Amino acid sequence: MSKAKENAALAALDMVEHGMTLGLGSGSTAEIFIELLGDKVRGGLDVQGIPTSKASEACAIEFGVPLINPDKVEAIHLTVDGADEVDKDFQLIKGGGACLLREKIIADVSEHMAVIVDPSKMVENLGAFPLPVEVDPFAVGLTAERIYTALKQAGCDEIETTIRLEKRGKGPLVTDGGNYIIDCACKVIPDPRLTASLLASIPGVMEHGLFIDLADTLIIGEEDHAKVMEIVRE
Ligand code: A5P
Repeated sequence: MSKAKENAALAALDMVEHGMTLGLGSGSTAEIFIELLGDKVRGGLDVQGIPTSKASEACAIEFGVPLINPDKVEAIHLTVDGADEVDKDFQLIKGGGACLLREKIIADVSEHMAVIVDPSKMVENLGAFPLPVEVDPFAVGLTAERIYTALKQAGCDEIETTIRLEKRGKGPLVTDGGNYIIDCACKVIPDPRLTASLLASIPGVMEHGLFIDLADTLIIGEEDHAKVMEIVRE
């Protein structure tokens, strides 16, 4: 377990209070948080979690975090999740693990979102990590063309779109929601907010990996401590 990721997850655990409903993110850092949360639950902490992927659901079950159906809760108090890139305004690229649709559904309704990362995820400009876009498999080629056009319109210079393949190379990767992922390598996304709105307007796009104005706490884990930063959003 990476010490930096563990320290970030530990600092997020300090934000958890008795009685909270928590969005449980996906990816290796979020899974460390879920494991540590399980220890607290065994120690008597009363929380319930909403997993954002089949993998984080399995992790929560393994470590004994009680789960609840998102349709059965009145509020989600805090979501803790990782990210693939984070800029100085806490804008994110997510979806490296192909879970961005459920991650965004839950983050968007959460009262707070804490992002837990190691320092390698911090960037000056978003875009070096290929932006994942989750699309309906129907007419995926047409949707890919529209994504390319939208990225051009948003000021991206170099664009390469690729349908993500499953690891064993047997065909396109299928997300938990039954969709495909188109990874968009742009090097730099000059205007993340415009890019997000143009992508969201394409009918075949189920969701994209730009998380704009969702994170309000950023926790950067280091080898021996974690830095916790807050941003106030209107
Ligand atoms: C999952 O779809 C992603 O959004 C993850 O949150 C992201 O890839 C970070 O994963 P790691 O914590 O494994 O780096």
